[in-house]
Amino acid sequence: MPIDNVLKLYAKTIRSPFLHYGFWDDPAAVDPARVNLADIAAAQQRYIEHLAGFIPENVQSILDVGCGIGGNSAYLREQGFKLEALSPDRYQEEVFQQKFDGEIPFHRSKFEKFQPAKEYDLILESESACYIKIIPGFVKAQEVLRDGGYLLAADYFVHHNDRVDSPHLKSSHNIERYLQAAADHGFKLVREYDQTENTVVTLDCAKEFFTRFVEPLLDYGRYSVERKYPRLFKLAGLLFGKHIASKKNQLDLIDSAEFRKHRRYMIYLFQKDGNA
Ligand SMILES: C[S@@+](CC[C@H](N)C(=O)[O-])C[C@H]1O[C@@H](n2cnc3c(N)ncnc32)[C@H](O)[C@@H]1O
Repeated sequence: MPIDNVLKLYAKTIRSPFLHYGFWDDPAAVDPARVNLADIAAAQQRYIEHLAGFIPENVQSILDVGCGIGGNSAYLREQGFKLEALSPDRYQEEVFQQKFDGEIPFHRSKFEKFQPAKEYDLILESESACYIKIIPGFVKAQEVLRDGGYLLAADYFVHHNDRVDSPHLKSSHNIERYLQAAADHGFKLVREYDQTENTVVTLDCAKEFFTRFVEPLLDYGRYSVERKYPRLFKLAGLLFGKHIASKKNQLDLIDSAEFRKHRRYMIYLFQKDGNA
């Protein structure tokens, strides 16, 4: 994967060092209409603080798998951990290298293909577990971790598949299949935490932003083109109508009710038991 342009878009617009959903301590107290970008960045900072609370005491070295643009690595390094990071993405590598200037070693690779030169105490998969193929991911984690080492995964997983055409059912691992594969490949589940409610607030904010700014702008653009260039408008409808309909379906991704129905945002701490 040379560059993931969706992640690049988030990095350029939100301008925080994170590429995850964030964590809201008190979801009921948040009014999405009043949230600004600084609040989103603060929720993202809170996410890694909360997630770091799951790191066992005897951990020193961490491989930040799917490190994005380095916010988690930076925080964990400040907490005294020895970091290395990995991502297959060229843009992220560039940002990461500019930020750390080689002080945190960066490996440009898919995790499944990573050739480790040493063993680590803990692998962090912060919102990257869903990008990594389940079985090759656990096989590689066995190879990369010392005996008794940990895999800390935080991500959204599918808990309910009603076979409808929902984007929530794509690009996400099935919870049961994921946990079964972990057990089958020598990983004992030692802690789990459901942070769905602390996560979906970000979707409510994205939806608020979309309905308040993006939708009216799109409507206005459509109206202007139709009025000034009616034939071009008709042609574009014929050519791109299906594509636009499929993009509308993608809007379900920022619908928190749809998220809850199909997905759970989970933290899983596994320990390598070495018997795989
Ligand atoms: C949603 S971002 C999360 C970034 C970062 N961990 C964070 O929490 O801000 C997903 C990350 O997984 C990376 N990724 C995608 N496929 C991967 C793979 N096969 N192996 C490792 N990382 C992968 C992406 O490039 C990106 O860095």
